[in-house]
Amino acid sequence: MNTQKKRVLSGIQPSGNLTIGNYIGALRQWVEEQEHYECYFCIVDLHAITVPQDPTALREKTREVAALYIASGLDPEKVTIFIQSHVTAHAELGWILTCLSPLGWLYRMTQFKDKAAKQQQESVGAGLLNYPALMAADILLYQAHAVPVGDDQRQHLEFTRDLAQRFNSLYGETFVIPEVMVPKAGARIMGLDNPTAKMSKSEESEYHAVYMLDSPAQVKKKIMRAVTDSLAEIGFSDDPERAGVNNLLTIYQALSGQTGDEVMQQFAGRGYGDLKKAVVEQVNSHLEPLQARYNQLIHEAGYLDGILARGAEKAAEMAEHTLNTVKERIGFLPNRSRR
Ligand code: TYM
Repeated sequence: MNTQKKRVLSGIQPSGNLTIGNYIGALRQWVEEQEHYECYFCIVDLHAITVPQDPTALREKTREVAALYIASGLDPEKVTIFIQSHVTAHAELGWILTCLSPLGWLYRMTQFKDKAAKQQQESVGAGLLNYPALMAADILLYQAHAVPVGDDQRQHLEFTRDLAQRFNSLYGETFVIPEVMVPKAGARIMGLDNPTAKMSKSEESEYHAVYMLDSPAQVKKKIMRAVTDSLAEIGFSDDPERAGVNNLLTIYQALSGQTGDEVMQQFAGRGYGDLKKAVVEQVNSHLEPLQARYNQLIHEAGYLDGILARGAEKAAEMAEHTLNTVKERIGFLPNRSRR
């Protein structure tokens, strides 16, 4: 029965084009989990505006991400899909948790340090610093037991757990302490052009990332040009010199569902060219059906809007329940107005 299932929440920012890193690190896990958990998946537009966004592009990307969720295999009959800004409890609890977040914790976050370093000091918005408190609100509002994310979000999850414990010890047991859930293979897909940096949707160089909506020819071009090394020896390795080959093997392993040993056996004694061709085939065999479904969905605005409206209603019910408990615990008077 639904009520006995553990809960999961996760989200993706509608900023830039989704990459196969997002697919392997997050979306594919979610599709598996929808069978076993009560799932909430949001499109985190409030997080996206922590860096400047063009309004028209943001609207388009938000819709695009919603369509990609479903095209990847999330079933709107089984999971709740919604837009973060449609459930106002996120911003409200985000503020309350911001007030409880020690600055020292916030300044330590590597995502803040990386993103802030890319902008002029004076133009870095305060939202970028407070980002983890809002992310904690996303998770804690749903009393999520588990949060399926890629490796780069581990630190934010630790922050969420620490903050939840802090709240619980100050005001009494209120929040479930969530566990991070990271895939065994592919938790950190690296850039094809620079395999020592994480593949990112906000990186602009042409050969950095394979996007979920790239054509088969683009996928091929990018992967065949991926940086490798001159050792000409296929093998998993944590040597930075060999990060490119390690990354290609990891992508192959994650998408094929094979074990590391099986992948090694398959490529033993073969060249990098063969490995790259096999990765191209794996990636395209996943993306082609997904894109076919996406191309239908993106033209069915009414259908998508309906899913997002139902999702927001269901999410708000749960979120407001938690938010009301929080407000009462911290000493806010109940609101007796009808709105
Ligand atoms: P975002 O939008 O950067 O990324 C969405 C998800 O994709 C994963 N991911 C990757 N996994 C493997 N390899 C990669 N190269 C790679 N790039 C991205 C991310 O780990 C993430 O799981 N802060 C979050 C969004 C967020 C959220 C939340 C997540 C807001 N509220 C609540 C979980 C729960 C972020 O920026 O993800």
